[in-house]
Amino acid sequence: MTAHADYQIAEIDRRLFGSFVEHMGRCVYSGIYEPSHPDADEDGFRGDVLEMVRELGVSVVRYPGGNFVSGYRWEDGVGPRDERPSRLDLAWRAVESNQFGLNEFITWSRQAGVEPMLAVNLGTRGAQEAADLVEYANHPGGTQLSDLRRKHGHDAPHDVRLWCLGNEMDAPWQLGMKTAAEYGRLAAEAAKMMRLVDPRVELVACGSSMRSMPSFAGWESEVLEHCFDHVDYISLHSYYEELERDLPGFLASSRDMDLFIEEMIATVDHVAARKRSRRRLMLSFDEWNVWFQQHFAGPESLTFQEQPRVIEDTYDIAAALVVGTLIISLLRHSDRVRVACQAQLVNVIGAIRSEPGGPAWRQSIYFPLAHAARHARGLALNLAVHSPTYVAEPHGEVPLLESIATWDPEDGAVTFFMVNRSLDRPLPVTAELVGLGDLVVHEHLVLAADGDVRRRNTERAPGAVTPRASQASSVTGNALATTLDPLSWNVVRLV
Ligand code: AHR
Repeated sequence: MTAHADYQIAEIDRRLFGSFVEHMGRCVYSGIYEPSHPDADEDGFRGDVLEMVRELGVSVVRYPGGNFVSGYRWEDGVGPRDERPSRLDLAWRAVESNQFGLNEFITWSRQAGVEPMLAVNLGTRGAQEAADLVEYANHPGGTQLSDLRRKHGHDAPHDVRLWCLGNEMDAPWQLGMKTAAEYGRLAAEAAKMMRLVDPRVELVACGSSMRSMPSFAGWESEVLEHCFDHVDYISLHSYYEELERDLPGFLASSRDMDLFIEEMIATVDHVAARKRSRRRLMLSFDEWNVWFQQHFAGPESLTFQEQPRVIEDTYDIAAALVVGTLIISLLRHSDRVRVACQAQLVNVIGAIRSEPGGPAWRQSIYFPLAHAARHARGLALNLAVHSPTYVAEPHGEVPLLESIATWDPEDGAVTFFMVNRSLDRPLPVTAELVGLGDLVVHEHLVLAADGDVRRRNTERAPGAVTPRASQASSVTGNALATTLDPLSWNVVRLV
């Protein structure tokens, strides 16, 4: 491949390395919050989990849902804890104690060093409640709602910038599902009022809940007909899984993400063209991950418990490789995808797992995100890649090598992120480096199957999947040479 200093995609927005905390299963309760845990701090936040979140290096965390938000009354989760109501959460058929709410999340975010991204309920509620929440969170004081926040112990405004206008409003499973026209109008009115409260808010309109929705593209087109001028982003959600033990097909999942992003760009730019607008909406891929949905019997199977164990998927190396390729896809489209959230942070399809009263550990999918959050700095470079391919339906021809490079003009560091999809063959790679200065190999990190792609971290074996250093890379003149192990994720850092 060739990496050329002039072939730039975009400056990478740090918000690309986000995550998601939903009131679902044990993501909040016994995930990030567990006052009785031996590692809990005075706020009840789990110190072991906080430590892993800081190490993961995620930039933005979306909250409180997800499907949960579409039935949520944010007022239930603020004020004295002993006065907060327990309520039925109809989205996940659980009991929500409301012991953790907006103010706890903001305090946790500050401790974790992440930017909060909030969602408002446009399922069962409307524009007024959305504007009320912005006023409670962001208005300095002197009104009933802002003074209520101050009375609740938060004198300074939370200054939350990023807001989702509802969640998956096209979906039949969504509480208060809407038609595109209904949602488009509501999103426009909510956006108008939220911006009147605080003009600095950045707003995300709901795109289709997945690419395979029959309404995809038509939904976006009609929604944006109503709210194009009022919003900054359109959302994308996508989860991938291995079907019928088809590993080569699963490993090609990022081809679907590539297409989804490109189709979404075409759709929103089509609306811009129709409106004779030069504005370019950005994309917020605010739910993405591997999720073995076939193993989940759906919310109907749940029975109104507090903090039930729901979709606590355990991830292997194969899942980590797919996550790696998905991150490469996001970086490759970083000129338009400016926000992305791996869903979710803890326990529920989580990068981190934790046991009530027990330990926390990193899942395999934690590592590619941690590597990218730390090392994908500066500009994403558009590589010219020639790779052998294989055929995997429905994706067609898929390259064995998936790769992207980033270049940080501040310190000159160039980092290659590469996945070798081959099940059994090492992949020799050479990269010509043009206009990137004199470079040497600083580090080559590898997460590889090493003969067992099903290896997973568990409570008993939390270190079974751990990245290792490799000596396989070298730079001679202006050429990087390396070899990628079969089924491996690689980070090659040049300085
Ligand atoms: O992340 C789990 C769920 O997946 C979210 O609540 C919803 O938005 C999506 O369908």
